[in-house]
Amino acid sequence: MEFHCEKTPENLNRPDYRSALSARVTPKQSSGPMTLENDVFLRALLRQSVPYTPVWLMRQAGRYLPEYRATRASAGSFLALAKSPGFATEVTLQPLDRFPLDAAILFSDILTIPDAMGLGLYFADGEGPRFERPLRDRASIARLAAPDPDGELRYVLDAVREIHKALKGRVPLIGFSGSPFTLACYMVEGGGSDDFRHIKSLLYQDPESAHRLLEVNAEAVTRYLNAQIEAGAQAVMIFDTWGGTLSDAAFREFSLAYLKRVISGLLKEADGRRVPSVVFVKGGGLWLESIADCGCDAVGVDWTIELGEARRRIGGRVALQGNLDPAILFSTPEIVRSETSRVLASYGQGTGHVFNLGHGISQHTPPENVAALVAAVHELSPGYHQNPLPR
Ligand code: CP3
Repeated sequence: MEFHCEKTPENLNRPDYRSALSARVTPKQSSGPMTLENDVFLRALLRQSVPYTPVWLMRQAGRYLPEYRATRASAGSFLALAKSPGFATEVTLQPLDRFPLDAAILFSDILTIPDAMGLGLYFADGEGPRFERPLRDRASIARLAAPDPDGELRYVLDAVREIHKALKGRVPLIGFSGSPFTLACYMVEGGGSDDFRHIKSLLYQDPESAHRLLEVNAEAVTRYLNAQIEAGAQAVMIFDTWGGTLSDAAFREFSLAYLKRVISGLLKEADGRRVPSVVFVKGGGLWLESIADCGCDAVGVDWTIELGEARRRIGGRVALQGNLDPAILFSTPEIVRSETSRVLASYGQGTGHVFNLGHGISQHTPPENVAALVAAVHELSPGYHQNPLPR
């Protein structure tokens, strides 16, 4: 087929351009995997050549979208949404129907694991997540066991299967989990926290119980992510939202060691394709080298670090995902475009960059600024990828 590869924004978002692209760049698969129309995201994570920089946004499905608020209202609550595979599929696809994003992320939450362990997750109005039965003594930690993903977490796997099917290979599906340490923060604090008093007291006063809790969490996360991969997730991301609140020594002992353990237990291939893993430690800029060495394929970076510097430090070993400050989306489409251009320039020439925010999108974000961001990445990034397809 004669296929002209002009990297105009119109071409980049044309399904036929993307199919032709992926027909040329996807290696032959083993036994009948679903063809991906657009595998630019997976290729960038594996630092293979790409025609442009792929983009998706942490928390891309959520309250900033009026269609999400409408679906949430008909489901009754966030948990009802997340626990119904049909609703979860609907909201996962909403941002993709609005914006030409290069990946979908399972609509769920990191707190499904502790909920399945019996801690009783609920959302108090306007207060974020809470647990009815937080872990506040040795005995409750001693009793804890990793849930069987096919039991209490079956609804998540059903959602992965349904979303995978509904995507019809448009873009890859990302599965995710919280890190063992970040889950432990919520399990011991009983909800969000300003000072992490309870979890940090546990780490320092009873490290043995802390390690027991983190071991159970690591096993739970590994089994959960592998089950998501088997159900159809094509990449996985681990959110260590609170690792950055730890001291250097505590981060290595209580978070990084367990991230390594999870990564080493992950399935590396499914459906004839590599399944890349991304580790995001919010506030982890100080530890980039150590995070890059944990065995992951890509490191998510928040907005406090200059992307070019992150690349100089670890870009030879892993891909990078990030890192526009989500607050820039409160500005104007023009400012969004120029700040996007700055992030692209900071990373510079070549593959290995997945554009994202430095943390989740805020509910106060105007959707038109998200449109401007995605368009800017697709329009400005081809210049950083000098690898035209062979004619
Ligand atoms: O990225 C996506 O679109 C996938 C969905 C997703 C949600 N939570 C949906 C959600 C993902 C990847 C998460 C991860 C998550 N959940 C993290 C790690 C990422 C991060 O932000 O650091 C954490 C710490 C949580 C725990 C959690 N869940 C909090 C603190 C909250 C309240 C946040 C808020 O904005 O009120 C939630 C609820 C939640 N999870 C919402 C969504 C869309 C908002 C729920 C609603 O509709 O009211």
